Amino acid sequence: MAASVNHQSLLSFLSVTIIIFILGLTGFSFTRAQTRGFSAELIHRDSPKSPFYNPSEVHSERLSKAFHRSIARVSHFKSPPVFSKNLPESNVMYGGGGEYIMNISIGTPSVEIVAIADTGSDLIWTQCKPCSQCIRSNAPLFDPDASSTYKPLSCFSFLCKIIEPSTARTSCPAKPGDNTCLYSYGYGSGFSSGDLATETLTLSSELGSPVILRKTYIGCGRDDRGTFNPVESGIIGLGGGALSLVSQLGTSIAGKFSYCLVPSYAKPNTSSKIHFGKNAVVSGLSVVSTPLLKKYPQARNTFYILNLQAISVDDLRINFTGSIIETTLEGNFIIIDSGTPLTILPSAFYTKLESLVAGKIRAKQVSDPNQDFNLCYEIKSDFKVPRITVHFDGADVDLAPLNAFISVSEKVLCFAFAPDDGGMAIYGNIAQTNFLIGYDTVKQTLSFKPSDCSTQ
Ligand SMILES: *[C@@H]1O[C@H](CO)[C@@H](O)[C@H](O)[C@H]1NC(C)=O
Ligand SMILES: *[C@@H]1O[C@H](CO)[C@@H](O)[C@H](O)[C@H]1NC(C)=O
Ligand SMILES: *[C@@H]1O[C@H](CO)[C@@H](O)[C@H](O)[C@H]1NC(C)=O
Repeated sequence: MAASVNHQSLLSFLSVTIIIFILGLTGFSFTRAQTRGFSAELIHRDSPKSPFYNPSEVHSERLSKAFHRSIARVSHFKSPPVFSKNLPESNVMYGGGGEYIMNISIGTPSVEIVAIADTGSDLIWTQCKPCSQCIRSNAPLFDPDASSTYKPLSCFSFLCKIIEPSTARTSCPAKPGDNTCLYSYGYGSGFSSGDLATETLTLSSELGSPVILRKTYIGCGRDDRGTFNPVESGIIGLGGGALSLVSQLGTSIAGKFSYCLVPSYAKPNTSSKIHFGKNAVVSGLSVVSTPLLKKYPQARNTFYILNLQAISVDDLRINFTGSIIETTLEGNFIIIDSGTPLTILPSAFYTKLESLVAGKIRAKQVSDPNQDFNLCYEIKSDFKVPRITVHFDGADVDLAPLNAFISVSEKVLCFAFAPDDGGMAIYGNIAQTNFLIGYDTVKQTLSFKPSDCSTQ
């Protein structure tokens, strides 16, 4: 692939390299537990264990909402997370969320917050007190004055200058006598802005003692727009950029994390797991691996991008083309994301795939009662779906029926893929359920291992 390095991307590449270097120097510190690896729970938003759970909603309503969140999420990837001083104000529905929440404690003494775990963004942030405009939520605001480990970053610090390269000199200090480093992080249709700081985070580990992450860079949001549910108060960025939890953990987790997502609509009461470090190693005979394409200078390093070569439906195979991930990254790229329910494909390719799938199914087509999904069938006892195989570069992934089809009601089953006219391609979380999925950001590989995630 011809790499045309423009000035901007080279600059951001250099910035990120420097930030990583700084993170190394500031002595981000760990307890012994982290060098062994640790695991935490991920709770699906539609699980009864989730604060999002609305018992009065019926299954088909939940799926209709998941469909619409998938569409909203596409716009998040089209105008991806950016640090900027001058974000346009927007009260549009926040599409930058994600489907899983994670409990994390913050500060000393620590306060538990419920945050969205998001593989599509980098910053770790929470709403702080005082807040000039916060996203409405019943969760108490984090009070940095009550924490002995909270340390705001100075606007003269190197890190602060890097995240606001063009405006640091004019806007820093923001007010006379106040040198706090201000940030603004946009999610396409929402944003958080406030103070950048270092703080202690505590993750309750699945096994053994809690994991303490000292001097973690966080955003203390004081002007945030978007939507949260009543108990949520922040986002944990798990992307590939320098300020994400994964990158900040860095060498202590050898750049590795993995997750195993339980099919949330089939097993609503079972939590999924996320693993870091040694716990995140994915091994065994059934493992297949594909390169993570973060090395392209024109790709923002936040996203986890894979090379998708083709998709097969039983014996018929069609080559994948036509995706536009970044304006300059066109071809056969696809973002893997835990925060998008459906798999999204460029419409021309989707149409071909849908007709292959339809050609293999002998049952009666019906329309989706909610009019969201394109291809739905009435379920009868002899109903059989074709075998769909996703051919990533070096990794053929056979989807189970529940990865490609979803029942919207007792009688209706729909194809869980959707088209995007703008050429976006996202490998969504329904397709990822019941696979242990390992990200190795050092070797730059992504591994799939078919697994029963409810027993992991
Ligand atoms: C996460 O936090 C919420 C709110 O504090 C609580 O209700 C829930 O039980 C916690 N979940 C876990 C797995 O700790
Ligand atoms: C999940 O747990 C709730 C109680 O919290 C229970 O009412 C429900 O039947 C359970 N669902 C399944 C599928 O086990
Ligand atoms: C699909 O891609 C393969 C490998 O790049 C190529 O050999 C083949 O000719 C392509 N098939 C079609 C129909 O374009």
